[in-house]
Amino acid sequence: MSALAKNYNRRKISFKYGKGSFLYTNKGKKYLDFVQGIAVNSLGHSNPYLVKAIIKQVKKLWHVSNAFIIPEGEKLASRLAKKTFADFVIFQNSGAEATEAAIKVAKRYFYSIGQPKKNRILCVKNSFHGRTLATIYASGSKKMTEGFGPKVDGFDHFEFGSHNSLKKSITNKTAAIMVETVMGEGGIKVIPDWCLKGLRKICNENKILLILDEVQCGIGRSGNFFAFGSSKIKPDIVPIAKGIGGGFPLGAVLMSKRVASGMTAGTHGSTFGGNPLAMSVGNAVLDQLFKRGFLTSVKKISKYFHSELNKLKIKFPKVIKEVRGVGLLIGLQLHNDQKKFIQKLMDNKLLTIRAAENVVRILPPLNVKKKEIDLAIKIIKKVCLTHK
Ligand SMILES: Cc1ncc(COP(=O)(O)O)c(C=O)c1O
Repeated sequence: MSALAKNYNRRKISFKYGKGSFLYTNKGKKYLDFVQGIAVNSLGHSNPYLVKAIIKQVKKLWHVSNAFIIPEGEKLASRLAKKTFADFVIFQNSGAEATEAAIKVAKRYFYSIGQPKKNRILCVKNSFHGRTLATIYASGSKKMTEGFGPKVDGFDHFEFGSHNSLKKSITNKTAAIMVETVMGEGGIKVIPDWCLKGLRKICNENKILLILDEVQCGIGRSGNFFAFGSSKIKPDIVPIAKGIGGGFPLGAVLMSKRVASGMTAGTHGSTFGGNPLAMSVGNAVLDQLFKRGFLTSVKKISKYFHSELNKLKIKFPKVIKEVRGVGLLIGLQLHNDQKKFIQKLMDNKLLTIRAAENVVRILPPLNVKKKEIDLAIKIIKKVCLTHK
């Protein structure tokens, strides 16, 4: 009898160790892991470079308070700022903390410029920004908020893809629009570049901030460092997590100089956020991601994966409805019974995970090999042959 609370519907399997794209059970069974902790292990399991970096830091210094200067954090923040739109960074430990901090940054900015009533955040209905009280109410999802009243106020919602609904929902109290650049949990729905440009324009016209949640789709997963990279727009605030820690809990909120002006001493904090151990791992992840050609290879391999999956869609039109996503954030939308399909994939030693709208989510590590993709395609094909 497990003493863990029942808030997860866990699969009846556990693993002893992992290596690259694979996980191994106690009994030596080998699984191709295309979940990777839900887009967390960006460089696969037990990546030797990350292992070396973490061991080196473990022997030196794990944790000191943010009351002191943390050189590893200074380094990570300045690398993120140099490579992106951002001027400033606040480190956190998870995605929900990062999105919640993003909300705080937006509110505080308007407060600091003498507009405290401009404090509402406009989000997509049924989006996903985490599981804290504020972020579940940001999601506008009945399922996630049920039983957790009273409602955390300060959020308005519009329908995904509806410009009319978006424009109608903006009021003089709107401080920011917050969207996932690619809706992950919501079914791998990509906001196209032209829409991102439109969003930026609407924000500029209405003097409101644009928050792009890149917790799941950021840090190279799209083939660009950020999923909004191809649109060439500049958001004001970007929460990140998952891939930046490569498996170590690490989140951050990135922001422009203008909006950072509200975050004066004492306005936000975190005991663990930005400690030397997490920062060293984050720096090691960036060492790999910023290597010449790394993101180009993510683009190349993901193009191959998408094209192979689209071939399967053509071959099995009654099983696969749509191949969704960008880069290595991939969704297979099925006509029916995604749960059974995922189970059958697992029976054939391929791990995937669900998303809304009957989608099978496929999240290989960013350094996945072609032969591993070929193996996944072979297994998916086999399951398609028997799936009704
Ligand atoms: C887009 C997005 N934002 C926020 C979160 C919350 O991240 P965490 O589970 O680390 O709190 C997630 C998690 O899946 C996510 O996909």
